[in-house]
Amino acid sequence: MCGIVGYIGEKQASPVLLDGLSKLEYRGYDSAGIAVYDGSKINIEKSKGRLKVLSDLIDGGKKLKGTCGIGHTRWATHGEPSDVNSHPHTNKVGNIAIVHNGIIENYMKLKTYLISKGYEFVSETDTEVIAHLADYYYKGDIIDTVIKIINKVEGSYALGIISSEHPDEIIAVRKDSPLIVGLGDGENYIASDIPAILKYTKNVYLIDDNEIAVLKKSGVTLYNTDKEVIEKEVFEVNWDIQSAEKGGYEHFMFKEIMEEPIGIANTVNPIIKQGLIKFDKIPKKLHIVACGSAYHVGVVGKYVIEKLAKIPVEVDIASEYRYRDPLLTEDTLVVIISQSGETADTLAALRDSKKRGAKIFGIVNVVGSSIARESDEVLYTLAGPEIAVATTKAYSTQLTAIYLLALSLAKANGNLSAEEEKAYCDELMRLPDYVSDMIKQKEKIQYYASRFYNSKSVFFIGRGLDYAISLEGSLKLKEISYIHSEAYGAGELKHGTISLIEDGTLVVALATQDALYEKTMSNIKEVKARGAVVLAITEDGHYNIEETSDAVLYIPKTNPLFTPSLAVTLLQLFAYYVASLKGCDIDKPRNLAKSVTVE
Ligand code: G6P
Repeated sequence: MCGIVGYIGEKQASPVLLDGLSKLEYRGYDSAGIAVYDGSKINIEKSKGRLKVLSDLIDGGKKLKGTCGIGHTRWATHGEPSDVNSHPHTNKVGNIAIVHNGIIENYMKLKTYLISKGYEFVSETDTEVIAHLADYYYKGDIIDTVIKIINKVEGSYALGIISSEHPDEIIAVRKDSPLIVGLGDGENYIASDIPAILKYTKNVYLIDDNEIAVLKKSGVTLYNTDKEVIEKEVFEVNWDIQSAEKGGYEHFMFKEIMEEPIGIANTVNPIIKQGLIKFDKIPKKLHIVACGSAYHVGVVGKYVIEKLAKIPVEVDIASEYRYRDPLLTEDTLVVIISQSGETADTLAALRDSKKRGAKIFGIVNVVGSSIARESDEVLYTLAGPEIAVATTKAYSTQLTAIYLLALSLAKANGNLSAEEEKAYCDELMRLPDYVSDMIKQKEKIQYYASRFYNSKSVFFIGRGLDYAISLEGSLKLKEISYIHSEAYGAGELKHGTISLIEDGTLVVALATQDALYEKTMSNIKEVKARGAVVLAITEDGHYNIEETSDAVLYIPKTNPLFTPSLAVTLLQLFAYYVASLKGCDIDKPRNLAKSVTVE
């Protein structure tokens, strides 16, 4: 995800900015840029690629003179990684420069309006509207301008702004994207995250939504949106630089689970606000093809799409699909799911399906990746870069992308009334809050992990969507904790595998589907009768499950099709704590790679 740094003081700004940006590299990025005021005008240097490319361009910063500037690392969302799409962006005359982290959801509307007023756009980014809006609203007061901008834009943003009309200031504001202000002696900073400035100061303001910070060399003033000065406590950072690189979390995996609510919101909100995906032609059949966790999303997809859109769905592991001579017609839509967009088998399956005449719909996290580029249509998951090998937030956003696809197909197919559409969309927009509630159960999950982390073998069982989510829960546990685990349809266990259940075997039983609750309860009783220890996950209200289970986690009542999004966060946290108690290398489990580019 993008990173922001800003500096105003006595030192030359650009080396400080480059250094700060280097501390934000862990966030992931594909281009970088810097804007510095040199005493008469703003100079900008930016470039696609690693920070080193930018640094070489400006001789480690020496070439850009000036003591006030802003810098940015960009992780592409709107528009491919390129020099022109890199930040900072400016108005036409170049006296206002802006860096942005987040997504301006109504940028198309604003862009159309600004074009009607004669503004010209050079990039494909959502951010550029802010630079032109600043120009449009500017009447001599930069704070008034910022207030007008934030009243107009929808979405998430952290903004750093400099203007040659106000050469002794940096203006910063945020909503739903991180931003801090670092307080130095005769110098001040802005940054997306503490590591960027930790070397210079440990005193920071943690900026809240819609607070406007005006930084001068001599001090920082904070305003609310009524332009009243506000007071804020200085937060003293007590991290060392190394731990701060993960934003203070011990592991990227944990940090990424914490980021699920914002990733889901970023994926869902723009699609729902702009209207569900339109299909020129309604497919007669779907094939969902993917690897690993992305394949498990496909299993959820089969249930949800068949239920909502009434279109038959086949789900396949890409490494099998590409060699099984699948029967495709031009009425088949092949849905390819991939976080990295580069998985070799998945990409090969895409190319083979294309050759056979099918249309490709990609669900991809990495913008500009091969699968994104080669798909006919792409729905991006906006999880941000995922660093831990075991996927968490990318999986969660892929699930929401599948829901959006299912609803869009149902609508195209005439299977969704306006009232149903509204009800489903409202519930989808509530998912980030529900997932935040799941995260709040982390202490309880940690306690259960401490009871069960010595298990030798674990079985995950569930019916319907609970089976689909069992697959992911089981994979998560085995890949990071190295405990053998398997997932079974709850009714299937008795056809052989129940022979492995003995005294103390852990069974994780999912019973979130109301219609199947009693059936799964019978299966829980079957394993209990054979000595299993049961950790159950069910919906609020099914309290009688406590009579048969040894430990229970609850999820709130939501539409039964969406319960996987809630249950999976509990299972990810469970796997995380088990692996942590076992002392495993959580972010880099043995033998595994994040992006699998070989067959
Ligand atoms: C690897 C990762 C998994 C991921 C799978 C598919 O095995 O470790 O977490 O689910 O690849 O990756 P993709 O990038 O295509 O989603």
